[in-house]
Amino acid sequence: MNILIIGSGGRESAFAWKIAKSPQCLQLFIAPGNAGTAQYGTNVNIKVNDFDGIRKLVLQKNIDLVLVGPEEPLVKGIHDFFLADEKLKHIPVIGPQQQGAQLEGSKDFSKQFMFRHNIPTAASCTFTKDTLQQGLEYLTTAGLPIVLKADGLAAGKGVLICTTLHEAQQELIFMLKDAKFGEASSKVVIEQFLQGIELSVFVMTDGVNYKILPEAKDYKRIGEGDTGLNTGGMGSVSPVPFANADFMKKVEERIVIPTIEGLKKESIPYKGFIFVGLMNCNGEPYTIEYNCRMGDPETESVMPRIESDFVDLLLGVANGNLNTKELKVSNKVAATIMCVAGGYPGDYVNGKVITGIDNVRDSIVFQAGTELDNGNIKTAGGRVLAVTALQDNVFEALQHATADAARIYYDGVNFRRDIGFDLL
Ligand code: AMP
Ligand code: GLY
Repeated sequence: MNILIIGSGGRESAFAWKIAKSPQCLQLFIAPGNAGTAQYGTNVNIKVNDFDGIRKLVLQKNIDLVLVGPEEPLVKGIHDFFLADEKLKHIPVIGPQQQGAQLEGSKDFSKQFMFRHNIPTAASCTFTKDTLQQGLEYLTTAGLPIVLKADGLAAGKGVLICTTLHEAQQELIFMLKDAKFGEASSKVVIEQFLQGIELSVFVMTDGVNYKILPEAKDYKRIGEGDTGLNTGGMGSVSPVPFANADFMKKVEERIVIPTIEGLKKESIPYKGFIFVGLMNCNGEPYTIEYNCRMGDPETESVMPRIESDFVDLLLGVANGNLNTKELKVSNKVAATIMCVAGGYPGDYVNGKVITGIDNVRDSIVFQAGTELDNGNIKTAGGRVLAVTALQDNVFEALQHATADAARIYYDGVNFRRDIGFDLL
């Protein structure tokens, strides 16, 4: 079959790497892809939100299945766009329709959903411009630190953790009155701060049946020792030692099953991934957020651990028979180190020539922000490459991934040397 992956990051590279191995994949296209995805399939220069362009491509190349990587096209309704088109509606799209994508697209929707279905999460209250005064008063009674979340998509920047009442009140005013995050902060969720360790849990569902994919830990801060500004993610490790059978049983019973059942009860169709971002608070899982897609850079650690034919699992999602598919997971440990641009997550310059990818010995290099220019691979984004090693234990995986990341060079190259050391 012919498969189209939508997206251009490290996550999509990992999908492409895995899908290209499937005997069921005849032709693979990636729109728009990056310099690395061209190794696994054909890049087509169409933007992820250009639905008409994607439509043309799907018809022209006889695409049989579309896998959507990022959240934006899902929240904007790419799946609904397919269903509303006579020529596209029979082509399965992996990723929820707009209604289901609200789990990520609206923090208020997702919190209300969790409350309706008794899914453990932090206490919260939502405010708008009209209820700003009540919001300011609410803050005086809430404990500190306190979390403020823009309701809509804000490119990963919409969550603020405030440590003083003054800061929280100022930020609430900026968000609601001054539209700090534009339309995304026309509603703000004020949420209790949860103390614990974060974990990313990935669920694949056809809307009725589900499979829990390997979990992963993501390292969000730019600096070693989890310091400095938040990034899209500087590395990941899978599996995560504290996510043992006992903990994962709680996650499944208290979060995954009620989520799938909740979607069913509310007649919200859902074919795709549910990424549960959760906090382990003294052994008890609390949901921080849902995403309607896989994580990045978690996917780069998750895909190498999946031994089953991934296309077969995607077909299970598409056809509603995921229960008949087998998910086989390797016991090995995958560690991913992200090489980022100098200056990231602040300002950075693209177009630096990348060398040394061929020197990598024991890792897979999943390219993210790269492009081909006159035969050179050049940087084209903040997160440039994900270097993933799959080894027998955490220590070896980290050692190999770190050593291999150091074999790659471009002007300004930066990566964290402490990813995963908290797990040793
Ligand atoms: P989100 O955009 O919802 O993923 O939030 C970004 C990050 O903010 C999360 O990965 C957490 O590190 C942090 N965060 C969000 N909500 C909370 C919370 N209630 N308590 C503590 N940290 C949180
Ligand atoms: N790694 C976190 C995310 O993909 O949102």
